[in-house]
Amino acid sequence: MIDFSLTENQLAVRDMTREVASKIIIPNIAEHDRAQTMNPDLLPAMADANLLGFCIPEQYGGLGMDYISLGLASEEMEYGDTAARVILSVHIGLFSLPVLTWANEEQKQKYLVPAAKGEKIATFGLTEPAAGSDAVGLLSTAVKKGDKYIMNGEKMWISLADVADYFLVFAWTDLEKKKIRDHTGISAFIVEREWEGVSTGAIHGKLGVRAGNTGFIAFQDVEVPAKNLVYKEGAGFKIAMFCLDQGRYTVAAGSCGLIRACRDACIKYSKERQTFGVNIEEHQLVKQMIANMEAGYEYSTYLWMKAGWLKNQGKRSTRATSLAKWIACREAEASSANAVQVHGAYGFSDEYPVERFYRNSKGASIYEGTREIHTLMQADYALGFRQDKELERDLPPVEQE
Ligand code: CAA
Repeated sequence: MIDFSLTENQLAVRDMTREVASKIIIPNIAEHDRAQTMNPDLLPAMADANLLGFCIPEQYGGLGMDYISLGLASEEMEYGDTAARVILSVHIGLFSLPVLTWANEEQKQKYLVPAAKGEKIATFGLTEPAAGSDAVGLLSTAVKKGDKYIMNGEKMWISLADVADYFLVFAWTDLEKKKIRDHTGISAFIVEREWEGVSTGAIHGKLGVRAGNTGFIAFQDVEVPAKNLVYKEGAGFKIAMFCLDQGRYTVAAGSCGLIRACRDACIKYSKERQTFGVNIEEHQLVKQMIANMEAGYEYSTYLWMKAGWLKNQGKRSTRATSLAKWIACREAEASSANAVQVHGAYGFSDEYPVERFYRNSKGASIYEGTREIHTLMQADYALGFRQDKELERDLPPVEQE
């Protein structure tokens, strides 16, 4: 059975997020983007609207919503600004859903509950200065000493690095396996900002996502209690890949928000601007660019929704998520480039939002799996070099109401 309709709960999440985007994000976004600052009202507004944990089960402080709702919220947040959607990507996609799936009960009570209630903010630390696409190339270590691990290393390009209270961090616990790049020597840990030896800093001068915080985290002889190891030693790489399945999903759905923002800005402008004696909406080449945005939005939406449908059933969605992320980001880049084109010289200035859309679109083809990584993954699936086997653990299925 194919059903394209949204449930009442899904529509409620979409409307609530749309309201946050229109009241809190959009009125001030140009100012924050220009000043390269995060809107101080955004996280409190998201927490008040239960947006920081709505798809976490009620027993862990959330609202028990499904994963399609997460996609819809990602789209609406990115319609406001990419930096706002990134909060959902890291806090829910890369931290809370993986903790829900892989952490033990004590860890869930201690870390997931405050994150889901929006009392604490969380992010994810995999990428390093010399290890992005090549995740196994990370250098951070966590060496066991009694009932602690001593963590050293540096994480880079981390969203919310300066803001988050908790970090889900990946480091080598088996130094022999590190030498031969055997991923079963990597483990995952929950690390708290307040611990001695943890420091963070922001990266300035980014091309896009300027209203968001992106930075580094440094670990210098940090004593991580052994009880903060997530799941078991050696499971870190798989947990990291699992995290990315959820983060990439929010990026895919978010990109649809960006495409829609481009389309709407172009429709508005093309009804106001005249050339050659008519509104530019009459020109066939302008129509073509708007038609491409429309098509890109529609098929990218179907792709992330298919991934969300698999997630709702507790089925593995790596292949579908990767395809959705690749295509939606590609369409968002193309749509934003065309949106600048439709606006002509005005699109080249920050008087109109489309130059921000253009700059923001670029990041998503790089973070959470570059377009090249996703292209290779899709080729490998098609050629039979890669298959989605059933995972040891996967997202808990969600009942749809
Ligand atoms: N879930 C669970 N397990 C998975 C998995 C998944 N989605 N994908 C793979 N695995 C398992 C595999 O089953 C395999 O297990 P076995 O050894 O038991 O068979 C193991 O992990 C290794 O898998 P692969 O063989 O697929 O690994 P690979 O080395 O071929 O992966 C890669 C290569 C696809 C390029 C991968 O390294 C990759 O996705 N790289 C990109 C990393 C990335 O996206 N980084 C961006 C981080 S975003 C960020 O840091 C920004 C921020 O703001 C926080």
